[in-house]
Amino acid sequence: LAKLPDIEPSLVQVTKTDSPKQVPPPSSLVFGHTFTDHMLTVPWQMLEGWGTPKIQPFSNLSLPPSATVFHYAHCLFEGLKAYRDTNGKVTLFRPDMNMKRMNNTAHRVAMPGFNGDAMVELMKQLVRLDKHWIPDQPGYSLYIRPTMIGTQPALGIAPPKEVLLFVICSPVGPYYPQGFKPVALYGTTEYVRAAPGGIGAYKLGANYAAGVAAQKAAAAKGYVQNLWLHGPDHHITEVGTMNAFVVFKQADGTTELVTPPLDGMILPGVTRDSVLTLAKEHAAGHINVPELTNKLVVSERPVTMGEVKEAARKGNLVEFFGTGTAAVISPVDRIGYLGEDVQIPTGPDGMGPVSRPLWKHLTGIQTGAIPHPWAVEV
Ligand code: COI
Repeated sequence: LAKLPDIEPSLVQVTKTDSPKQVPPPSSLVFGHTFTDHMLTVPWQMLEGWGTPKIQPFSNLSLPPSATVFHYAHCLFEGLKAYRDTNGKVTLFRPDMNMKRMNNTAHRVAMPGFNGDAMVELMKQLVRLDKHWIPDQPGYSLYIRPTMIGTQPALGIAPPKEVLLFVICSPVGPYYPQGFKPVALYGTTEYVRAAPGGIGAYKLGANYAAGVAAQKAAAAKGYVQNLWLHGPDHHITEVGTMNAFVVFKQADGTTELVTPPLDGMILPGVTRDSVLTLAKEHAAGHINVPELTNKLVVSERPVTMGEVKEAARKGNLVEFFGTGTAAVISPVDRIGYLGEDVQIPTGPDGMGPVSRPLWKHLTGIQTGAIPHPWAVEV
């Protein structure tokens, strides 16, 4: 069987916009509402493989109403960020991880895989073209959204024979409208985000659509986000659309940083992996994360809401936070659980003694202030 063409960056066709938009001031940005001047598209057909990549003016797509994306949720995506430092140097944060995950997600829904390195090359080219859109203030960046949709006009349930991969870019600041402040969570047991063997570990649009009603219910009760509690033991799985981390003070004087294991129901977050890696390397003495305790134990293990509540009652709960590309680290100050509020300690800046040094170190790497191979120059 002849191998069909993969994505080939050298074939890219670039059409620049003749009506560039005005770049808005960062203070006016609402997460994901503003888009840059250009986008990237790459079509795929089952019998022809990946077609010509195009960097073109940001514009509407034209699709038949019968396209499978509109019927069977053939839609998957990624989120990664580009940072620009005050010298104008632009970096992407661990883009290889996103391309690997995008391939895994595509595989889960029988959509085509592609060469991740080739896509990173094309995204670099897109970001270079729209470089002036990247805000360089601390806490601001360019959010890059690679997306894959099924475009075949066909109502039979099958792997789509036609697909479109596209990338759009949005200059962003804080994810939550209240800024970088801690959020209140509602422990959700009425809805299920993911089940064993399901799709919770994949970045599929459908996962996020199914989460919105739970978020709305939490908001109606006065909380910002929902905390997904799984099964009869109320296992902590995720915080809204982020991975969850808990910090406990232990009887032997150590501090335990805990996140649930990747059991097929948890999204393998890039920020999750970065926080775990930095914390483990620090705990092992391989790196020094300034101001982080040396008596740190890092655990990927199941953790229940009951354990968190009990630790809070005994004064052994140090902090609780979410991690994700959009918000990076998002501290939590309160969790509504079975009719009462569990109060979570927070520092004056919202963060706690473990998340603050990790956040500083991680954002230092992301913005290029701390040299690290994770920051890939554009
Ligand atoms: C995240 O980066 O935390 C996300 O899950 C993306 C979000 C905008 C849906």
